[in-house]
Amino acid sequence: MTITVHTPAAGRHRRAGFVDLGHARDDFRADVLAGLARAEKQLSAKYFYDARGSKLFDRITELPEYYPTRTELGILRDHADDIAELAGPQTTVVEFGAGSSIKIRLLLDAVDAQTFVPIDISGEHLREAADGIAVDYPGTDVVAVCADFTRSIELPDDVPADNRLGFFPGSTIGNFTPAEAAKFLRQCAALLGPGSGLVIGVDLKKDVQVLHDAYNDAAGVTAAFNLNLLARINRELHGNFDLRAFRHKAFYNEAEGRIEMHIESLRDQTVHVAGAQVPFRKGETIHTEYSCKYTVAEFQALAAEAGYEPLAAWTDPDTLFSLHYLRAAA
Ligand code: AVI
Repeated sequence: MTITVHTPAAGRHRRAGFVDLGHARDDFRADVLAGLARAEKQLSAKYFYDARGSKLFDRITELPEYYPTRTELGILRDHADDIAELAGPQTTVVEFGAGSSIKIRLLLDAVDAQTFVPIDISGEHLREAADGIAVDYPGTDVVAVCADFTRSIELPDDVPADNRLGFFPGSTIGNFTPAEAAKFLRQCAALLGPGSGLVIGVDLKKDVQVLHDAYNDAAGVTAAFNLNLLARINRELHGNFDLRAFRHKAFYNEAEGRIEMHIESLRDQTVHVAGAQVPFRKGETIHTEYSCKYTVAEFQALAAEAGYEPLAAWTDPDTLFSLHYLRAAA
């Protein structure tokens, strides 16, 4: 573990620290080769987010068809005071993933945050996000933790143990299977402690066409985001995927309650990746992402199974998205 205390430019803050838990970066090469060697080919959704993929995702969040981001922001704006009341005074806010700065700022504007702890595996992105908050919220200690939050981790000793409030927006929980989501929630409860709060965004089951359109936008940004995985393999692993010979495929699997994203081969072909040969049949797909959708009751049941009491669930007027306030068992 390395700890550095640094001073952001305008430095009027109480305290700003950066703690690196030293988690190894993912092994892109090994994971890609293993995923492409499987009978049902698969690539992990976590690899979408290289520099280009992150830019494409930012564009997705602004698409007319992609309702989750703006809808969750609306719910947060409407219920920030309710969250603050449930959280109580002198909170330590722990954000899983240094994501949208607009969302965390809405939360920090409302709650009495003595300490803010963003956790993210991308050190550079984390530093930038933490510095921005340290400058703009001089009354809040900022302790950035560079770590893989899907692992079981511990926070540095100087992070107050009382009154912790987790924040996991964006329905990123939907990118886990329900079993993985329950495991993640159990880890959250262990990390944040008995009686801690968790504010979590969860996308809802809804009209299939609305879901379909959100992952098949007319401008083709989601398709570019998905196919960027192949471009990334070409760039970083000496791959020779011909992007014109593959297509984006996203559909709602009603039985499983999830959007599935795949990349489909348009012909029989063999691709070279990092010295390996990868054969594709026409119509064969690489699975790249699940985006699980829940009803409010389904998610509350999952949370309860993981040791959380659901205290509140807010939705937008069209019940597209939900924001939950959960409390870990005391
Ligand atoms: C990050 N995550 C919650 C997004 C989702 O909706 O599952 C990722 C995404 N994939 C395609 N469009 C957006």
